[in-house]
Amino acid sequence: MHERERAGRPTAFDGETYQARFDALVDQGVDVHGEATFVLSFGPRSVLDAGCGTGRVAIELARQGVEVVGVDVDSSMLAEARRRGPGIGWVEADLAALELGRAFNVVVLAGNVPIFCPPSSRVALVRSCAAHVAPTGVLVAGFQLDRGYGLDEWDEACAAAGLQLDQRWSAWDREPFEPGREYAVSVHRHRAAGAGLRPLSPPTGGQRSTAPSS
Ligand SMILES: C[S@@+](CC[C@H](N)C(=O)[O-])C[C@H]1O[C@@H](n2cnc3c(N)ncnc32)[C@H](O)[C@@H]1O
Repeated sequence: MHERERAGRPTAFDGETYQARFDALVDQGVDVHGEATFVLSFGPRSVLDAGCGTGRVAIELARQGVEVVGVDVDSSMLAEARRRGPGIGWVEADLAALELGRAFNVVVLAGNVPIFCPPSSRVALVRSCAAHVAPTGVLVAGFQLDRGYGLDEWDEACAAAGLQLDQRWSAWDREPFEPGREYAVSVHRHRAAGAGLRPLSPPTGGQRSTAPSS
């Protein structure tokens, strides 16, 4: 782990160090865009990268022509994101209190964002992320299940925010989910949404992102 402990915040990140891990993986030929590929399969025009970190997902989505906004509470991570993606809208804010005044086709939380959120803010975080999902859009979240935040709690918070589970996978390449798995990618949509954005096609290649999860 490269996160540093800082006073007043349970976990803080070092953006340069965090990004260096991904740069090293790219140099080794590893696909670090499994999350972006998954998001792109919904054919979104707009995406909110919630807990964007250094912009790994947002920058790839922008490169593919998607209008994207990245939000993160950590200034060190955002500094790196701004350096790497100067043309993208980056917002420094706590997701638990986010009010951008607009909605997105996809709101994605990639890289364990929920488990870095203090338990006292978790319900609020889901509520405000859900408030930024367009009526036919989706909330997508991938996180480890062995770090104190389980799927029951996630699904309950989503239900309280008016979202229902639509899909669940055990990896970003849509490996089927089974109980006992240590990772889940969950897709929720508004309860009244009916047929909203559906994946246009499964991601090609079936490549599993081997990017580190935190
Ligand atoms: C492990 S990083 C993942 C970064 C990026 N999504 C990725 O996949 O590379 C988790 C990020 O979530 C952010 N985060 C956690 N809780 C947050 C909150 N309440 N509001 C905004 N960002 C938050 C952290 O600051 C950190 O940048």
